[in-house]
Amino acid sequence: MIDQRMADSINDQINAEMFSAYLYQSMAAWFADQNFNGMATWMTAQAQEEMIHAMKFYNYLIERGGTVLLKQIDSPPTEWASPLAAFEAALDHERYITERINKMMDLAIDIRDHAAKGLLQWYVDEQVEEEANATDNVEKLRMVGDAGNAKYMLDKEFGTRPVLFTIPVSAAD
Ligand code: FEO
Repeated sequence: MIDQRMADSINDQINAEMFSAYLYQSMAAWFADQNFNGMATWMTAQAQEEMIHAMKFYNYLIERGGTVLLKQIDSPPTEWASPLAAFEAALDHERYITERINKMMDLAIDIRDHAAKGLLQWYVDEQVEEEANATDNVEKLRMVGDAGNAKYMLDKEFGTRPVLFTIPVSAAD
């Protein structure tokens, strides 16, 4: 049976990962609104990945005999000053998530939950990749600056990221 402190921490992190999905889906909607459809696709794929992060914790908690408690998810922001500002906000958010994961690892070490340490190491490694990708995106946006042509090309590049699944727009699709 999982220690209640670790179960509580996992439930809080399920919420944080679902909020991440909300945040990135909100960015996707804003990008689509601004006609940056490639960046919208990139953010949709990112939102889908965040749901996988949430569900990996969810499945793990059930496997360890804990109780999943889904809590209220905060509303994300809905607009940003520029594409660069949105990607900078995404980088800040990933740094915040990394801090949370590191604290969870500290807890697992403190209470000698070796099984949770194994799971959390996956997230520690994943956060290295998440921060690297987010940093890379910010640097690309900074590089193109206000050059419309370069921004257009960059948007196309963002759009090559595959989404994990597509949702039909209407029942006929
Ligand atoms: Fe689930 Fe982007 O960290």
